[in-house]
Amino acid sequence: MVKVLRTVKEIQEFSKAAKDAGKSVGLVPTMGALHEGHLTLMRRARQENDVVIASVFVNPTQFGPNEDFDAYPRRFEEDCKKLETVPVDAVFHPEPKEMYPEGYCTYVNVEGDITKKLCGAQRPGHFRGVATVVTKLMNLSRADRAYFGQKDAQQVVVVKRFVSDLNIPTEVVMVPIVREESGLARSSRNQYLSAEEKEAALVLSRSLQKGKAAFDGGEKGVETLKKIVRDEIGTEPTAVIDYVDIYSFPALLPIAKVEAPALLAIAVKIGKTRLIDNMILGE
Ligand code: PAF
Repeated sequence: MVKVLRTVKEIQEFSKAAKDAGKSVGLVPTMGALHEGHLTLMRRARQENDVVIASVFVNPTQFGPNEDFDAYPRRFEEDCKKLETVPVDAVFHPEPKEMYPEGYCTYVNVEGDITKKLCGAQRPGHFRGVATVVTKLMNLSRADRAYFGQKDAQQVVVVKRFVSDLNIPTEVVMVPIVREESGLARSSRNQYLSAEEKEAALVLSRSLQKGKAAFDGGEKGVETLKKIVRDEIGTEPTAVIDYVDIYSFPALLPIAKVEAPALLAIAVKIGKTRLIDNMILGE
């Protein structure tokens, strides 16, 4: 059975014991409602570390006031069963007040451009919440490596930035996107979709494929590539575009032509559900 750690003291004691025994620690931070994408991160962590700690914590500080914090799926018992199949050694599952007790007032704010575009522009304060909780999780677990999915590519860039800036001794590992057979990127938020919406959501991966096919066919112009993706999304009447963007990767700088690796990233609303997806061009 996976060991459940609920308090700061419990995770600190667990990771201290691992470190004192000379073991490497891999951390997989999640908000639960685990799917195959998360389990791929866990399995990678399992291969590369002596001890694996997952966290399941729906982090209130990374949700805006009108976002889905309350509705976010919470399935801790099911999650534990999935974690046992990997298996991970421990899961950290604190209450919000354990992470943010009364009087809490310290936040990690990654300033500069990388948090102001893409999801950062749409979700003010989101990356401040992510950076704060991931810093705390890295400190608590004393992780040698931490694992994040490429689906949240901007999150990976932001995490790498503060880990470097704050001299946190944790290696940040990005793991490729895991898709359903249909092409839909795995996401806990897919659970919000009705059968029809799930069908409509296929337009995300389809539009990225179109963009990538055009790029592979020789089209390098960012505006043209963006238009190809937008036009494909436009074929799905229920899809509402939040953004379609291309930036250099991993620096996330504006570019006019794709001449080195670049992130083609989209955010699209299907009904009430906002989904994101991306592909790296020219890898
Ligand atoms: O990617 C997520 O699920 C979250 O942003 C993370 C990294 C677990 C922090 O709460």
